[in-house]
Amino acid sequence: MKRLALLGASGHGKVVAEAALASGWGAIEFFDDSWPRLLNNGRWKVIGDTASLLSHFDKYDGVLVSIGNCFSRWEKHQALEAVGATLAIVIHPSATVSQYAELGSGTVVMAGAVIQVDAILGRAVIVNTGATVDHDCRLDDAVHICPGAHLSGHVNVGLGSWVGVGAAVKQGVSIGERVVVGAGAVVIHAVPNAQTVVGNPARVAQTRAM
Ligand SMILES: CC(C)(COP(=O)(O)OP(=O)(O)OC[C@H]1O[C@@H](n2cnc3c(N)ncnc32)[C@H](O)[C@@H]1OP(=O)(O)O)[C@@H](O)C(=O)NCCC(=O)NCCS
Repeated sequence: MKRLALLGASGHGKVVAEAALASGWGAIEFFDDSWPRLLNNGRWKVIGDTASLLSHFDKYDGVLVSIGNCFSRWEKHQALEAVGATLAIVIHPSATVSQYAELGSGTVVMAGAVIQVDAILGRAVIVNTGATVDHDCRLDDAVHICPGAHLSGHVNVGLGSWVGVGAAVKQGVSIGERVVVGAGAVVIHAVPNAQTVVGNPARVAQTRAM
């Protein structure tokens, strides 16, 4: 039975766990820095924290960081890479991923998502429920495409950016690093690093420190 360790016991973690079971992993155990206060994530056990996983990763066939926050996920992903852990890729069987797409380690593709031909996704990316990433998109490490968001062809998304639920991005648009695209936004122009954009057409709402 293939065993998967998930770091991050949250609602997002439960969705990753179910996608993993549906795609052939046999057993799931969670790790979370709220352990030992937190002992369960729904029906799954939480059996240790980050330090425990860093010292016991070799007891698992794969590990994956199931934290929705892009920068926490990226930090933990890099820590696991640094000790030589095998970072899994989880694709829900109802997702459609082109045979010509590339997915980096630690990436999850949830139920009903679609990733089209020649899309290239970095490490620790989330393509969430029903989201679509069209042809020739480039998603850098630690990007999160939230449920029901749609990227047209040739869209670039920079490190650690978060495209909110139901957002749409026009073809060929580049989104910088650490960008937040608000829920339902329609992005038709390039977005510089560290901006929050909202609305239709999307406009800058906030600038954050990098
Ligand atoms: C954009 C976002 C990050 C802003 O959050 P925030 O910094 O807490 O901002 P606030 O809620 O204080 O809103 C600030 C202003 O922006 C507006 N605003 C916030 N989100 C908006 C959105 N998605 N679309 C349009 N306007 C929005 C608010 O109405 C408010 O306007 P006002 O100042 O005129 O009253 C957040 O609202 C959002 O859309 N998050 C995405 C959620 C998501 O996709 N979750 C999926 C999880 S998998």
